[in-house]
Formats: sequence, structure tokens, C-alpha cells
Amino acid sequence: MTSRDLESVAQTLVAEGKGILAADETIPTLTRRFDTLGIQSTEQSRRTYREMLFTSPGAAEFISGVIMYDETIRQKSSGGAPLAEALKVQGILPGIKVDTGAKPLASSPEETVTEGLDGLRNRLSEYRSMNARFAKWRAVIRVTDSLPSSACVSANAHALARYAALCQEQELMPIAEPEVLMDGSHTIERCGEVTGAVLHAVFNALSDQAVTLEGMLLKPNMVVAGKACTRQPSIEDVATATLRCLRRHVPAAVPGIVFLSGGQNARLATVHLNAINRLSGPKPWKISFSYGRALQDPALEAWHGRDENLAAGQSALYHRASCNGAASVGKYTDEMELESASADDPPHRRDWRDD
Ligand code: 13P
Repeated sequence: MTSRDLESVAQTLVAEGKGILAADETIPTLTRRFDTLGIQSTEQSRRTYREMLFTSPGAAEFISGVIMYDETIRQKSSGGAPLAEALKVQGILPGIKVDTGAKPLASSPEETVTEGLDGLRNRLSEYRSMNARFAKWRAVIRVTDSLPSSACVSANAHALARYAALCQEQELMPIAEPEVLMDGSHTIERCGEVTGAVLHAVFNALSDQAVTLEGMLLKPNMVVAGKACTRQPSIEDVATATLRCLRRHVPAAVPGIVFLSGGQNARLATVHLNAINRLSGPKPWKISFSYGRALQDPALEAWHGRDENLAAGQSALYHRASCNGAASVGKYTDEMELESASADDPPHRRDWRDD
């Protein structure tokens, strides 16, 4: 694959009206989400759940790529073909999470640095042979009055850039995900300041490691207030602050920005994406979604681990995917929502955090 192929993968993932389904939860994270609904987490139940998502009829109209976890890319569908193949036949690009998780940072143990660089070249090469076309690495940045430390920001930016360079060498299109967490009581202004500093460090590091910006995607958080902040911003404020931050810090050569949902409820993640795309002024990149919880929660809830609910789970995913597809071109409307409140937070989902 040449750098042209990497560019074409990036552009395919952010094709008009489409975005990415992040379904790359680790086994412990998915087990926690299953636990809250009383679903037993076994290799078989995780496979059934992923197959339900990946084969939702019609979802490929809005889903351009799926990020899988190591266990999933090695699993076969009930028809006996690898799950990556089930995606490919629908024109959905298979992707893979390749970091090995956020671990305490030696100099500042309340913070984390994402690990997984050791042996990464060989793992990427294996995933490429299993038909993965792109990869994801998530860095986690915690916000308090005194955090993040510069050690945390620079260590994570460096690791993201080393990962991205290795991906491009091994012919996988890298998605760089520096996530500034919504946990905490910080204001939207503080989130904007931290997100700007993190993006600045990430693009400096990507430049140092000679990563081709045209052959990558950025997966950032939106600029929002911390969940416990008493002053919650309006939809317009989130959209304006997010776009301002991205304009200041993301080079125009990057083909697309695909947001994480980060713990926003499903409908709010859609509304915010739509509002960002409706703002006027320059937007040199495609702006779309790479949602995990905001796409999956209604589907998981509808399925509830029961075979008789597989079709209901698939239609819940199709619905959220269609709403987010519309939001990625600024054409989402309230009328697109079904009458039910299924897109809102189920009461127990507060604990459905990524690890
Ligand atoms: P959320 O949309 O649930 O934040 O997940 C996105 C993701 O890929 C986290 O790494």
C-alpha cells in the first residue's frame, strides 16, 4: 500500500454521510457493560453481540468502518467466515485497536500513558494480513485544576506519533485518539484550553515522526464541560468552542476528524455533531463520528443478551447510525428520532466507562 492507499482509506472512512462504529472494547470493559444488564460475558456472547452489530441490515449506508478488538478480529461469524469478512462484503472497512491500554505514568501516577509500542510492528503486520485496513490508539488525558502534567501530555503525544508512524510503515491507516476526559467539574473553557494544548503536542509529535497527515484521521473529544461542572454549556457553545479549537490546532492536510462520544448520551452526541457541521466558516476536514457508547448503548439495551431481540438490537443500531450519518452532513433533525426515549441514558449506564 502506498501513501495514496492510506489516503484513500482515510477518505473512504469519512465519505459523505458516513462514520465509524467503535466496537473495540476490551474483554473487561465489555464484560462490565454486559454485567449492568445481567448479560453473561463469554466468548460466545461477545461474538453474538459483535455479529449482531456488524450485520445490522442497512447500517453500511452510514457506517464506513468498524474498529474491532483483538478477540473479535480472530472470531468467526455464525456462518463460519471471519467477522472481518462479514464487514468487507458489505463494503465496511475492518479496523483494529492496537494499544494495550492506559497505565499509570511513573512520574505522575494519577495520570496514565498508553502502552503498546513494544512488538507493535509485528502485531500490525499480522492484523494487516487479517484484512484490517486501519488502526486506532487511544491516549487518555485527565483534567483537574493542576492536571494534565506536561509529562503526561508529552509522553502520550510521543506514543501516538510512534504508533502512527509504525502504522503507516505497515500499511494500516492510523487513527490518533487523544481523549481529554469529561470526568470532573472543569468548565468548557478549561476543556478547550487542555484540548488545544494536547492537539498542539500531538501534531508536533506527528511532525517529528514524519507521519503523513493526509494518510491519518484524528479522533478527538468535543470541547465540553466536565460532567460534574455546575455550568453546562448550550449546544451552540459546545459546537462553537469545538470548531474554534480544531481550527486552531488541526492542520488542513488531515482528511477527517471523527469524534469519540466520551460518555455523552447517544442523542446529545448526535445533536452536537450536527451543530458543529452546521456552523458557518472554514472546515477544511470532513467532520464525522467514531462513536462507541453513543452508537452501541441503545442496541445493547434492546438486545439484552436475548436471541429473540437480535433484530431489535440491529434496528436500534441502524437508527443511531442513520441519525449520526445525517449529523455528519448537518442534516439531522429531531423528527428523525423514534418516539421512544431509547437514545437517552439508560439509568445504569454511568459506569459504562472505557478502560
Ligand atoms: P466512546 O464513543 O464510547 O467514547 O468510544 C470511542 C472509543 O473508541 C473509545 O476509545
